[in-house]
Amino acid sequence: MVNFHVLTLFPEMVMQGLHTSILGRAVGKQYISIEAVNIRDYTTDKHGKVDDYTYGGGAGMLMQAQPVYDAYLSVARKVEGKPRVIYVTPQGKTFHQEMANELAKEEELIFLCGHYEGVDERVLEEIVTDYVSIGDYVLTGGELPAMVMIDAIARLVPGVLHNDESAMTESFHNDLLEYPQYSRPEVWRDKRVPEILLSGNHAKVDEWRLAQSIERTKRLRPDLYEKWAGRQT
Ligand code: ADE
Repeated sequence: MVNFHVLTLFPEMVMQGLHTSILGRAVGKQYISIEAVNIRDYTTDKHGKVDDYTYGGGAGMLMQAQPVYDAYLSVARKVEGKPRVIYVTPQGKTFHQEMANELAKEEELIFLCGHYEGVDERVLEEIVTDYVSIGDYVLTGGELPAMVMIDAIARLVPGVLHNDESAMTESFHNDLLEYPQYSRPEVWRDKRVPEILLSGNHAKVDEWRLAQSIERTKRLRPDLYEKWAGRQT
């Protein structure tokens, strides 16, 4: 069981995005829980303001420390120990499968989604344990990256995937890309399913799939291929 808590200005975006399909089913079966905490609910400003100008000048607004901190406290107070707080930011370490594996072992995970030009540094120093990015590009806010990470972590939580769904995990675990797959019909637009897959010879099929994975990884992701090749000796 992992309890995900998302501190955000757009709770409906997170809730709608994460309660469909496999994750929706997992929430229903209580393998995971996903809660969105609306930072705006915690501002002490009487106009509901959560952002202000940056000291020292410069374009754009900054999320203020107080509402973020109080939103965090609302979660931290009800869980045991000090939870991991992931600040979703292009300034963070790049998210990858190993990080997902590690985070899937936690019981409570808090994601802080920034907006505008960022968040007041003082509250980040106070609460954040991990700074994580999903890649070298800039999005309008932290919600989509948080949802990407939650999806990748949640599918590793025991019970979330059914057996036939979990097979997909393996290929990335040993640094190889997935082999090509085919379903009915045998011929589509004059393209035949590779003969070996119809042979019923499982050993040969496995061999073919591995060869395909290796070839594809070498061609499309030489960086992953080098890693894999280095582990074969
Ligand atoms: N916020 C804006 N862009 C982002 C990115 N690439 N990763 C994580 N958080 C972000």
